[in-house]
Amino acid sequence: MANSPSGDSMTDRLVRVLETFTPTRTVQTTADIGRRADLPRSSAHRIVSELVVSGLLERDETNGVRIGMRLWELATRSSDALRLRQAALPLMERVQTRIREHTQLAILEQDEALFLERLSAPRSGANVTRIAGRLPLHASSSGLLLLAYADADTRGRVLARPLQRLTPDTIVEPDALRRKLDEIRILGHVVAPGYIEDVSTGVAVPIRAGGPRVVAALSVVLPRENDTEPALRELLSAARDIERSLRPHS
Ligand code: PHB
Repeated sequence: MANSPSGDSMTDRLVRVLETFTPTRTVQTTADIGRRADLPRSSAHRIVSELVVSGLLERDETNGVRIGMRLWELATRSSDALRLRQAALPLMERVQTRIREHTQLAILEQDEALFLERLSAPRSGANVTRIAGRLPLHASSSGLLLLAYADADTRGRVLARPLQRLTPDTIVEPDALRRKLDEIRILGHVVAPGYIEDVSTGVAVPIRAGGPRVVAALSVVLPRENDTEPALRELLSAARDIERSLRPHS
């Protein structure tokens, strides 16, 4: 791909433009995109205009720029994430109906937990998770679950870096975190009380897709004072049914 005068490729620039969008920053001016993507003004205008023509970005009524439906369509189409989400959704609904708290599905992506789905009832408690948003591996039930079953390289990398303390209960000390991960593999689930916000407890279980590899975490976020046992039972039963529907030829 042709390089710009500054030496970065067109692909680098496109990715930097798209990465300026976040779950909380969904509409931006072209000037803001250019600044955040570290691009000269003229390049930002040209790239944004081309992406708008292709439908990957869209302009709203006030000329703000947002991610286009075409990008959603292409990214969602036939991905493994879509297959996983489709298999999980009916069982997530079952958990959600019975427990009536947030029910979520996450995968490991670039050393973070990336959320593919979240179901919530109107009166569910607090929850910082967003669909297509990420949470740190060490500080959420889904993240800890995914980290516990991740390959040794990933575990080593995450354990070697400074871990942010988000509440007084977040595990940030590497030896304590290693013990927690061992415990998760022994129990086959995780309970994370107040690790990411004081008022909530996350409970997560693994989902495998035919082999030993864990491909996702299914979790519930409860008010901290709630009993976790009913949620855990529902999660384990839902995970079994999701795994059955993910098996080839089932
Ligand atoms: C968790 O999975 O541990 C979790 C996630 C979001 C919250 C609270 C807990 O808001």
